[in-house]
Amino acid sequence: MAKPLHIAVFSAKPYDEKFLLAAATESMVMCCYKVDLNPMTATMAHGVEAVSAFVNDDLCRATLETLAAGGTRLIAMRCAGYNNVDLNAAAELGIRVVNVPAYSPYAVAEHTISLMLALSRNLPRAFNRVRDGNFSLDGLLGFDFYQKTVGIIGGGKIGRLVGERMLAFGCKVLVFDPYNVEVCEQMGFEVVDFDRLIADSDIITLHCPLTPETRYLINHDAIAKMKRGVMLINTSRGALMNTRALLSGLKSEYIGYLGIDVYEQEGSLFFEDHSNEIIKDDIFVRLTTFPNVIVTGHQAYFTHEALRHIADTTVNSIDAFIQGDELIHEVRRNLAG
Ligand code: NAI
Repeated sequence: MAKPLHIAVFSAKPYDEKFLLAAATESMVMCCYKVDLNPMTATMAHGVEAVSAFVNDDLCRATLETLAAGGTRLIAMRCAGYNNVDLNAAAELGIRVVNVPAYSPYAVAEHTISLMLALSRNLPRAFNRVRDGNFSLDGLLGFDFYQKTVGIIGGGKIGRLVGERMLAFGCKVLVFDPYNVEVCEQMGFEVVDFDRLIADSDIITLHCPLTPETRYLINHDAIAKMKRGVMLINTSRGALMNTRALLSGLKSEYIGYLGIDVYEQEGSLFFEDHSNEIIKDDIFVRLTTFPNVIVTGHQAYFTHEALRHIADTTVNSIDAFIQGDELIHEVRRNLAG
């Protein structure tokens, strides 16, 4: 039998390790590291041909140069987004990159709707009150989704599942997605431009990738064009929204509800236990003080089904790399810029 391939797995939590070890083939040795991948820790993968990383790892040019110098030829992202990978540098250094394009779009779509429902019915406040023996309904007044307008930015796999579910609630569904019009129209959504979507929606939910074009899509100007009392949901990527603009919108009571599973500076906070520390990020802490804001720590994807799928897809891509087969989930740099 050929020598097994060592794989350095960064940002590996116990649950990642469990699912990856269960999926691994005999030709693989998984070395799971708790630390994140960055220019410093990249040296840990010296001599390792395949590296696996996650959403908040820093795969900048410096990291990739260290990896390439150590012999790394494949990076297997255990996530869909790859905005944290310098694809130009990877291509120049001869490192191939694969991702997991869709682990469980259902998981993310269902979490998105959980945030909407929890916000609309003030569930966090209701939960705390009942535990405290307070059964007053003051401040818990909700609203029906029926006949509300939901605006979906990004009509891809997750956005379309959210739309389908909101249609079942009796909502009108608007979609803004310049690259995916036909399939959205076929599903009964009204495809509109960005300005119309933000002006007409009672609930706006983000499901597009983070690109230079979509960074800070939700900013001061966009918020000013929304309906007063709008509900904003982001389970996509933090930097799609300007958090300072969100804070002013919440303080002026222009934004009625905010549900986020992602945060632009989440890299230094999420996926770790900081409960024994003082959190220094004042913007984040201020966000968590509003009664009409729910923040979850990038857990939308976190279901049994998704973790199994992430592990299986990652292992299949590494196996294809070992066999010299086509890498069906390879991500390439955009040569157009
Ligand atoms: P997808 O690729 O199927 O859909 C993305 C859609 O966004 C595409 O239809 C594309 O045409 C559209 N799009 C691209 N640029 C746009 C723009 N400028 N304006 C409007 N639409 C635009 O991706 P999928 O699977 O639906 O995932 C969406 C996002 O969800 C991912 O990019 C990722 O950032 C995020 N995600 C978050 C997770 C979490 O746990 N919170 C887990 C998985 C994904």
